[in-house]
Amino acid sequence: MKQIKLLLSIVLLLFTMQIGAQKFEGLALTPPMGWNSWNHFACEINEDIIKGVADEMASNGMRDAGYEYINIDDCWHGERDSLGFIHPSPEHFPSGMKALSDYVHSKGLKLGIYSDAGWKTCGGHPGSRGHEYQDAMQYAKWGIDYLKYDWCFTDGLKAEGTYLTMREALRAAGRPIVLSICEWGDNSPWFWATDIGHLWRTTGDIYNCFDCEYDHGSWSSWGVLQIIDQRDNDTLRKYAGPDHWNDPDMMEIGNGMSVNEDRAHFSMWCMLAAPLIAGNDLRKMNAETLEILTNKEAIAVDQDALGIQGFKYMSMDSVDVWVKPLADNDLAICFLNKGKNNAEIEFNWKENTIVDDLKGFTYNFSESEYTLRDLWLKEDIGKTSKPLKATVPGYDVLMLRLSDI
Ligand code: GLA
Repeated sequence: MKQIKLLLSIVLLLFTMQIGAQKFEGLALTPPMGWNSWNHFACEINEDIIKGVADEMASNGMRDAGYEYINIDDCWHGERDSLGFIHPSPEHFPSGMKALSDYVHSKGLKLGIYSDAGWKTCGGHPGSRGHEYQDAMQYAKWGIDYLKYDWCFTDGLKAEGTYLTMREALRAAGRPIVLSICEWGDNSPWFWATDIGHLWRTTGDIYNCFDCEYDHGSWSSWGVLQIIDQRDNDTLRKYAGPDHWNDPDMMEIGNGMSVNEDRAHFSMWCMLAAPLIAGNDLRKMNAETLEILTNKEAIAVDQDALGIQGFKYMSMDSVDVWVKPLADNDLAICFLNKGKNNAEIEFNWKENTIVDDLKGFTYNFSESEYTLRDLWLKEDIGKTSKPLKATVPGYDVLMLRLSDI
C-alpha cells in the first residue's frame, strides 16, 4: 500500500512538473494582431479610451480583418494592497479591470495588460518582481488574455530565468494568457524564449518616423528603417514560427507619418511575420490609415499559415527586395524604397531564381510561371514571363503576391 501511495505521489509530481514546464501552447499560431495604448497615448490612458478603442475595432472592420487584442500598456496601475495584490488606478480605471475585460469580451475582442519583470515599470509604477504569482492570479481573475512583460529596473536579474518565472506564474494561475517578452533583444531572447513566450521584442522602441534615430540621452528610439535593419534578420528568422514570433515593436501607422511611409511600414511588418499591433488613436483615424491597417491581402501575407519570416533577397540602389515564402507555393515580394526619391526598378524574373535555403523553397521563374498581384492596387498586374518595370515612390513599396499558374 505504502509503495502504491509513493508511486502515485511520484506520478502526480511528474504530472504537475510537466504542466509547469510548458507555456500555454497554441495561443499565437499566427502573429498576434491588436492594438496597444503606448505609441499614441503613453501614460494618458483611462477606461473610457480603452472602451472607445474597443468599440471602434469591433465596428470599423479591424476585428473582421483579424485584429483581436486591446492591450493596455504602462501606467494603468494604482497601488499594491496590504497583501501585495496590485490594483488599477482608481482615478483612471474606476470600474476596475474585470468590468473592462467583460466589456472588451462583449465586443468579441480580448484584453491585454502590461507589467515589468523588475521592481518598477519603465513608467515608474509597481513592477512584478517578487509578486509574479500574485500578479498572474490577479490578471487571471480579471479575465486578461495577453501580458506584455517589460524589462526596466531589472538590475541583477537574468532575463531567461526571470521570464520563466512569469511563464510559470501564468501557468499556475490557470488562464491561457499570451506572454509578450519585451527586453528589446538585449539578451537575445530568440535563442531561449521559444518555450517561454509567444513573441519577443527584437529591438529598442520604435519612434514615429520613417528614417531617424531619436536620442533620449541614455537611450534612443528608432525609425521604421532603423528597426528593420537593427538586427541580423538571417539569424532572427531561424527562430520565428507559429507560437513564437520576433516582434519588431508596435506599429506607428496613423501617428503622423505620410501615407507612403505608413504603407511601407505596414508592408514590411507583414513581410517580417511581425505581430500587427496598431498604435494609433483608432477613434480618430482617417480613411487612409484604416485602409492600410485593414488591407486583407497584405494581412494574409503576415498571417500566412507557414509562419515564415521573410528575408532580404537583394538590394538595387535605394531599393531592398524582400521575399517571404507563403503556403501553396505562393511568394510575397516587397520592393522597399529606402530613399526619398522615386526609384525606377526593373526586375527580370528569369534571371532571378529565389532560394530560401533555411526553409527549403526555390522559385525558378524559367521553369514555372507566376501571376503578379499588386497588394496595394489590389489588381493583377502581369506575369513573371516578362520583366517587371515599375516606379516605386520614395519611402514606399511595391508589394506583390506571386501565385504559381
Ligand atoms: C518600454 C517598452 C515600450 C513601453 C514603455 C512603457 O520602453 O519598450 O514599448 O511599454 O516601456 O513605459
